[in-house]
Amino acid sequence: MSEIYRASTTAPVNIAVIKYWGKRDPKLNLPTNSSLSVTLSQNDLRTHTTASCSASYPAEDSLLLNGKPQDVSGARTQACFRELRALRKEVEAKDSNAPKLSELPLKIVSENNFPTAAGLASSAAGFAALVRAIANLYELPADPTELSRIARQGSGSACRSLFGGYVGWEQGSEADGSDSKAFEVAPASHWPNMRAVILVVSAAKKDVSSTSGMQTTVATSSLFASRASETVPRRMKEMQDAIKNKDFETFAKVTMMDSNSFHATCLDTYPPIFYLNDVSRAAIKMVEQINNAAGKIIAAYTFDAGPNAVIYYLEENEKAVAGVFKTLLANKEGWSSERGAAVEGNYEAAEK
Ligand code: PMV
Repeated sequence: MSEIYRASTTAPVNIAVIKYWGKRDPKLNLPTNSSLSVTLSQNDLRTHTTASCSASYPAEDSLLLNGKPQDVSGARTQACFRELRALRKEVEAKDSNAPKLSELPLKIVSENNFPTAAGLASSAAGFAALVRAIANLYELPADPTELSRIARQGSGSACRSLFGGYVGWEQGSEADGSDSKAFEVAPASHWPNMRAVILVVSAAKKDVSSTSGMQTTVATSSLFASRASETVPRRMKEMQDAIKNKDFETFAKVTMMDSNSFHATCLDTYPPIFYLNDVSRAAIKMVEQINNAAGKIIAAYTFDAGPNAVIYYLEENEKAVAGVFKTLLANKEGWSSERGAAVEGNYEAAEK
């Protein structure tokens, strides 16, 4: 019986506060703008992945996600496998005793503990976990920056899930993508009282995938150019300063404005892309009411490529934010259980 080599890891979801939307190179997943996110807790929304390899496995690499076989022949998954195998080959070349794992078929088994492809950044946690599990299996140096460059080729936003806390993704300028990597803005411990509540408006798969949506936006939206060249670069700086200074009001305002700007370019796409629905808009109104009642900004909404709202707030405002969402929405039409629990959970920023 041939030996089975195995390694497991988990990677958390990250939710962008400055959104990535637009690819300058779709093959390498090189973005048209930098972006910034908060990585959620490992204990909550996460992908758990086991990577194994063995001479006894069928010759083809395989991936099982939530018990269902997935197609691994796509360019993105192949790019991750290829890059990781090349790094393993370097290890094998240096150490003649190292087993030739790069030559063995891979078996990847992943489980998400949240709805897949519902605008909850499942691909981010998925590719981050896949890359780190194989890197562990291959005993590669676990430098998150280097792994982020590989995970980016699986799914752009995945590069940010290799770090905990507050994470940037530098768009870079090199044609080969060598400088398009994630970087740490601040560890979770810098601003540990940040919280997020996720309102699962719909757990259905999104209508327009982020890849096809981005391409149509880049090709047709006239708002897009100014967002990528002026708005986002300015906000990246404002956001990093807000995080460094633990200035929640600026963090929140920039988060909400950037979500609005991203969804405006979606609407400005032809044909238009609608990720938000009436329930999403009710959540926006509710955040405005909470902030008006408090007399300052204590809550921020943001939406990815789907209708689910992510609300950021500080722990000391738990009652005024998450508490209000829980009580007000429980009996409201549109938030009934068939759409998923109104308040899915309370997620702490991940500890590094
Ligand atoms: O990484 P992708 O291809 O799933 O794109 C993610 C895009 C957004 O979630 C909408 C924004 C972001 O920066 O995460």
